Amino acid sequence: MNLILLGPPGAGKGTQAKRLEESLNIVQLSTGDMLRAEVASGSALGQQAKEVMQSGGLVSDELIINMISSRIDQDDCKNGFILDGFPRTTAQAEALDTMLSDKSLKIDHVIEIKVDDDAMVERVTGRYTCAKCGAGYHDSFQKPKQDGVCDKCGGTEFKRRADDNAETVRARLDAYHEQTAPIAGYYAGKGVLKSVDGMAAIDEVTRQLNEIVV
Ligand code: AP5
Ligand code: ZN
Repeated sequence: MNLILLGPPGAGKGTQAKRLEESLNIVQLSTGDMLRAEVASGSALGQQAKEVMQSGGLVSDELIINMISSRIDQDDCKNGFILDGFPRTTAQAEALDTMLSDKSLKIDHVIEIKVDDDAMVERVTGRYTCAKCGAGYHDSFQKPKQDGVCDKCGGTEFKRRADDNAETVRARLDAYHEQTAPIAGYYAGKGVLKSVDGMAAIDEVTRQLNEIVV
């Protein structure tokens, strides 16, 4: 099964994609995570992306489309994938259609996680991940069971993203409304768009998603 999760920064795309990855045995393809790995490795691509990401703007369509196309060709995507953070512009959505038809693949569900902007700044600025295994946490909404210790791997080091400050989050929300929100209309026009209530608790959002993907 191949899915697209749509939604602004903090909507819960990454949180839910990780759960679906386990329950459906398919892989999460987060363009944000891929770009952060490129930045951390100091690659030419990472150097190109770093400043744009820190400003809250969008990296060039061409770079992203090439990156995702070669990722989909890898063996671990054979059982299916969840696109998280891609497509993000109409040009990316159109390129994805062409790419998938060239590879004889299709998207089964495009699911929009609907949320209120006001809550997103708190969600994003409060978030952190385990430095060892990548498990996601939040200062208020998703604390580890034991303070300072990762539930999944017992790790005690955590990190926060460079673009998760209030100013950059607002710029990312602006970019979402200007460039990404219109693609919901693109998929609605094709009759494949579904939505879940992203303001509900994390487990309830998972329940709504499971109803769509079963
Ligand atoms: P990216 O990494 O994709 O960031 P984003 O879209 O801004 O999404 P986030 O990761 O911030 O949010 P999320 O929806 O995954 O929320 P999460 O589950 O963590 O992109 C980063 C940058 O890379 C972009 O700004 C751009 O520059 C570049 N980029 C990436 N893709 C690109 C593309 N295709 N084209 C061009 N440029 C691209 O949840 C957030 C927090 O809230 C967590 O702490 C979680 O615990 C909590 N939470 C989640 N759900 C709930 C809930 N229901 N109730 C309460 N708390 C919740
Ligand atoms: Zn961990």
